[in-house]
Amino acid sequence: MSTYFKDGQYTKQSEMKISVDDRGYYFGDGVYEVIKVYNSELFTAREHLERLVQSANKIKISLPYTVDQFIDIANELIASNQITVGHIYIQVTRGAAPRAHQFPGTEVMPVVVAYAVSNPRPVQAITNGVALKSVEDVRWLRCDIKSLNLLGNVLAKQEAHEADCVEALLHRNGTVTEGSSSNMFGVKNGVIYTHPATNLILNGITRQVVLKLCKEQGIEVVEESFSLEESMDMDEFFFTSTTAEITPVTSIDGKLISKGEPGLVTLKLQEAFTLEIPLILAGK
Ligand code: PDD
Repeated sequence: MSTYFKDGQYTKQSEMKISVDDRGYYFGDGVYEVIKVYNSELFTAREHLERLVQSANKIKISLPYTVDQFIDIANELIASNQITVGHIYIQVTRGAAPRAHQFPGTEVMPVVVAYAVSNPRPVQAITNGVALKSVEDVRWLRCDIKSLNLLGNVLAKQEAHEADCVEALLHRNGTVTEGSSSNMFGVKNGVIYTHPATNLILNGITRQVVLKLCKEQGIEVVEESFSLEESMDMDEFFFTSTTAEITPVTSIDGKLISKGEPGLVTLKLQEAFTLEIPLILAGK
């Protein structure tokens, strides 16, 4: 029976109570993070939690815990749920109050929920690559905030799944932004292209690790947007996220990319990423 965290208490999932008046439930009025666990240790937790702080600030929620306190909570969940490889989910909503769009009074405290999940590395997808389906990006203009409002992402992922694709390649009027739950990268003539970290994408923590690895490996990166048409013509394509790590793309809308196999630059980055995991865990 897994142990969950809610508002200072560790409880069994079956005993957790969330108010129907929670603003996360009514409005998606909250923020969240997903942090990977390798070898029973948190991976890039500080970066995720600093982004949680930024997301909360941007929607004017004041977090009831510090980054260090969140790290303690996450470590307690890893220990009590005996997680070796998996992830921690943390969500903070603006709190529970009778339904009204405007913020409730200051007496209403944010609601914090966190839990741990065992989840192996997606070895098959990472090794063989996956298919993408392009989907129009109809989300709001603050995709830099990791908010609970994910309807645009949910609909895009579902559309991809209905076309037997693993992920949606989102584009605004033909300009590629990101994935429904990942960041997108194309490789052309040895140069990596990815959308700049503007309000139109979430600046992924895995994206930032990959950009650092590119620098170390001497791989040129251009943080400029590219079109859907250009995507089809890339030598290689991949996407990144906490759970997907570096997943190669072998086709977009049925058109083969990189002859339907993970490309050499992608493989090099995957290798560097796997070597980086123990270094980051050791704080190096
Ligand atoms: N999603 N873009 C979007 C829209 C995302 O939802 C995510 C992560 C990313 C990648 O960010 P990171 O590398 O920090 O995980 C980019 C998480 C995993 C999720 O919602 O489950």
